[in-house]
Amino acid sequence: MTMAFRFHIAAAILALAFTIVHASDPSPLQDFCVAVPDANAGGVFVNGKICKDPKLVEPEDFFFQGLNKPGSTAKPLGSNVTQVNVNQIPGLNTLGVSLARLDFAPYGLNPPHIHPRATEVLFVLEGTLVVGFVTSNPGMNMKNKLFTKVLNPGDVFVFPQGLIHFQFNQGHSNAVAFAGLGSQNPGVITIANAVFGSDPPIGIELPDQVGVVVLGQLKDVLPS
Ligand SMILES: *[C@@H]1O[C@H](CO)[C@@H](O)[C@H](O)[C@H]1NC(C)=O
Repeated sequence: MTMAFRFHIAAAILALAFTIVHASDPSPLQDFCVAVPDANAGGVFVNGKICKDPKLVEPEDFFFQGLNKPGSTAKPLGSNVTQVNVNQIPGLNTLGVSLARLDFAPYGLNPPHIHPRATEVLFVLEGTLVVGFVTSNPGMNMKNKLFTKVLNPGDVFVFPQGLIHFQFNQGHSNAVAFAGLGSQNPGVITIANAVFGSDPPIGIELPDQVGVVVLGQLKDVLPS
């Protein structure tokens, strides 16, 4: 093998490794790419959203109003997340960042969920939150590890990308927090809803009389 050939192989392996570990939104290829609403995209879809003509871009494309107002925490779990991502600010398209406001009634819960595309940094402005995240599956006979903390006003906590996390207001008063997220479109998967409430339900075939059961009913048919 010549030196040059070896170098090319090494470069190819390195490039592949970089593709695999790349775990955030791709970098922009122009100053901005203000999103055209999906409904006006004429059936054209790319990874992200297609760009508005830069000549027609205006300050409003980078603007959002009203994050000083709390979301309603009336139901169902006493929490409300107001998202400010590319769907609210088209100018965020391709920029790899977004924001959210979280409101909690007393004992309100933002139940265990994942952002498949973003790490989250949470800042508590008001109230007392119990927060935590759980690591991905460890080795055999080991348990997923919980990292948890009680947060007070001024505290900041990080939820790494793709890990299950939650926030709970353990105080007698409302709580308010803001979050920065490392994606223009972080996505949310609420674990219980996704696993037990999918459409159609996840059906699992069991032997003998039981037949096909849906995942949500498994606990009723399995010995405990
Ligand atoms: C969150 O708050 C907004 C604004 O008050 C409200 O329109 C929305 O229905 C609330 N969402 C939930 C899930 O309660």
